Amino acid sequence: MIVCLCEGLNDRRIARAIEEGCRTVQDLARSTGAGSQCGACGCELKRMLAEHRARARAQREAELPLAAK
Ligand code: FES
Repeated sequence: MIVCLCEGLNDRRIARAIEEGCRTVQDLARSTGAGSQCGACGCELKRMLAEHRARARAQREAELPLAAK
């Protein structure tokens, strides 16, 4: 699915940039160009970043020993 029409970037490219360390829309703009033109994709970029944070948090919590929960 295309996320950023201006730069022709799909969700897999954005997801890869997030996996490689982009944590903000600005990081994504610097890394891929996403969101650097009209900005219409900004909401989807933020949603993808939030989804990644939630997944990472759930993974960290799942890895905690029971005593720490
Ligand atoms: S759609 Fe991403 S900057 Fe325009």
